[in-house]
Formats: sequence, C-alpha cells, structure tokens
Amino acid sequence: MTLLVTGGAGFIGANFVLDWIAATGEPVVTLDKLTYAGNLANLAALEGDARHAFVRGDIGDGEAVAALLARHRPRAIVHFAAESHVDRSIHGPGDFIQTNVVGTFRLLEAARAHWESLAGGERDAFRFLHVSTDEVYGSLGEADPAFTERTAYAPNSPYSASKAGSDHLVRAWHHTYGLPVLTTNCSNNYGPFQFPEKLVPLMIANALEGRPLPVYGDGRQVRDWLYVGDHCAAIRAVLAGGRPGEVYNVGGSAERRNLEVVHALCDALQALRPREGGYRGLVRFVADRPGHDRRYAIDATKIRAELGWAPAETFESGLARTVRWYLANEAWVAQVRSGEYRRWIETHYGERK
Ligand code: NAD
Ligand code: DAU
Repeated sequence: MTLLVTGGAGFIGANFVLDWIAATGEPVVTLDKLTYAGNLANLAALEGDARHAFVRGDIGDGEAVAALLARHRPRAIVHFAAESHVDRSIHGPGDFIQTNVVGTFRLLEAARAHWESLAGGERDAFRFLHVSTDEVYGSLGEADPAFTERTAYAPNSPYSASKAGSDHLVRAWHHTYGLPVLTTNCSNNYGPFQFPEKLVPLMIANALEGRPLPVYGDGRQVRDWLYVGDHCAAIRAVLAGGRPGEVYNVGGSAERRNLEVVHALCDALQALRPREGGYRGLVRFVADRPGHDRRYAIDATKIRAELGWAPAETFESGLARTVRWYLANEAWVAQVRSGEYRRWIETHYGERK
C-alpha cells in the first residue's frame, strides 16, 4: 500500500504528505521537479523515515513516471504538481500550459497504462485524485450564489485556464477509458510552508521586515479562505470515500475581502510581535492584477453531505496558527526569499508602484 504524490515538495503537497504519514502510517513516494516553489526543507521532518521516498522528476516525463509506477505499484496517485501562481501566469504562461495541461496529460497516460496492467482488487481500488481550484469557475458578483460542482467553467487567467484544461482531461480519461478519477476544486489555502509570493505569507514576511504591504486595486476582492490542514483532511476523505468520476468542491465558508485579510494579519502580528505604530500603516494600494477575479466562494454542501467533511479551523484560528508558524520559522522564510525569489519581487512589484 503506497501513494504516489506529485508536487509533494510544494505548499499543499508537503502539508498533505506530512499529514498523511502521521495520520495513516502508509508509505508515500513524492515525485517533484523542485521548481522555484518546491523545497525539500518542507519535508525535512521525514528525513530518514522509511515510509517516505523522494524522487526528483517531471510529471511530463512519461517514461520516468511509468518506471516509478512499475517499481512502487501505488494504490493511488494524488496529483498536486502544478504551476500555481496567477501573477506568474500573467508574466509567462508557457510553463503553466506545459506542466498543468501537457504534464497532466502525460501523467494520465502513464496512470492509465499502469491501471490497465492491474487486475482484480488492485485494479478496482486504484484511484487518480486530481487537485484543482475554484478559479476554474471564474468570477462571482457580490450577490451571486457560491460555486457548486455544476457551475459552468469560465476561467479568466492563464493559470485558471490551464487548470480548467487539466480538469477536462481528467474528466475525459474517466469517461472514455474508465480511469477511476476523483477531482477536488478547492478555494484559497493558507498555512505553514506557503511560498511567500502568495497573499498571506507575503504580507507576513513584508510586515516583519517593515516593508510595504502591496494591496492590488481597491483591496475589496473576495476569496474563500481555508486552512491547509483542512484541505488535506478533505483530500483524505475524497480518496477514502469519493465516487470515481465525481467532483468535490472544498472551501472554508470564510469569505473575506483582501483588505480584511491584510488587516487581520497586521493585528495578529501586533499581538505577538508588537511594532511601534502597528503594522496597518504599511498598507499600500498598488496597480491591480490584469483580469483580476472579483470574488470566489465555494458551496461545500456535497462533500459535507456525502463524506462528512467540514473544516476544523475557523478563519481566525487558522490565521493565528499560521502567523505563529511563520514567527517560529523565520529561517525557512529567509531561505526561500533569496535568489530567484528576489528577481520575481523586483520584476513584479517594480512595475506596479
Ligand atoms: P506550489 O506552487 O506551492 O507547489 C507546486 C509543486 O509542484 C512544487 O513543489 C513544484 O516543484 C512542483 N512542480 C511544478 N511543476 C512540476 C512538474 N512539471 N513536475 C513535477 N513537479 C512539479 O502549489 P500549491 O499552492 O501547493 O498548489 C498545489 C496544487 O493545489 C496545485 O495543483 C494548485 O493548482 C492546487 N490548488 C492550490 C490552492 C492554493 O490556494 N494554493 C487552492 C486550490 C488548489
Ligand atoms: O482560489 C484558489 C487559488 O488561490 C489557487 O488555485 C491558486 O493556486 C492560489 O495561488 C490562489 O490564487 P489567488 O490569486 O486568489 O491567490 P493570491 O495569494 O495570489 O492572491 C489572493 C488575493 O490577494 C488576490 O485577490 C490577489 C490579492 N493580492 C495578492 C498578492 C500576491 C494582493 O492584493 N497583493 C499581492 O501582493
């Protein structure tokens, strides 16, 4: 009994691998290309643990993936690997198409060949779980109902279009070939090990250095925030009880405007590491993200009703845990905020003064 986890050195993937081994004891093979977003330090707690094996590789390398599947014979693949940052997809969409669309296609083909080689109970039990995003559904107006699994796709960024493309491939591999797939579409995650290009860790890291907190546009865009540990629990529930071919929306029922999130972070930091004059004064409104989606919100009725999943953390408790983690792990932040990261910040924020 083994899981193959792609993208397991990234933010959600690493949280999932750590949680999975702690909760189940079942071995994991992590396949990760180690792009700028992948970091072996995220999995340092598993060093020397016989239940975990790390393989550096690209999901788009069909031969390498096939060899890995033949060697480890996993009972499931949990597919996190992706280019994940919307702003980077606007600057350079090519990698997003390559990994999220072409890479997922190659992974599906390798998974299909592996699954077709299985027999009996092993074949029946095999699952391919595809981790996707609420962004594929597009943008909501203030009064629109939240996204359900039946909401029509309307991706607006190169990132969300590439994830939508991968979702369609996964759906088709089930419909056409019978591959037992599961898809989860989740809202915005936050928590330990999130790369500080994303809103929550960027704001914490900048605030601690007394640097400006760049809020795009009017800061009134809404996201539905979910603590990463709750996302991991949802994936475990879908893997255990989800029906092949089905889609499950995952969200925190915690809609907040970006400016509210930034203010909440400033206040949490002020309580734990007081700064003269506080942190809120560091907020700066900067040029908006092109094509910026106004609002996302998830209706998680299906996963609650079918699989009994509900988030354990509130927005307030999850954010407090997250701020405490970043304060206790400043060396981790310093390590990732070097090299390529600095170039990204200069290019991206240099243009939006
Ligand atoms: P991340 O950018 O932190 O990590 C992505 C990981 O994938 C990295 O370790 C990277 O090295 C690896 N990777 C990239 N290209 C690869 C390739 N070609 N082959 C193998 N590995 C490769 O991303 P994340 O925030 O942890 O997101 C993980 C998944 O969850 C993504 O599929 C994303 O679309 C989805 N998701 C993210 C969120 C969120 O809020 N972060 C919400 C919903 C869904
Ligand atoms: O909804 C799920 C998605 O959430 C995932 O699929 C993506 O992988 C993940 O990156 C995230 O996308 P967002 O674009 O919503 O996340 P990000 O953290 O980049 O931005 C959150 C909001 O904050 C968004 O409205 C843009 C805004 N923002 C972001 C940054 C980095 C700012 O105002 N300033 C910033 O500097």
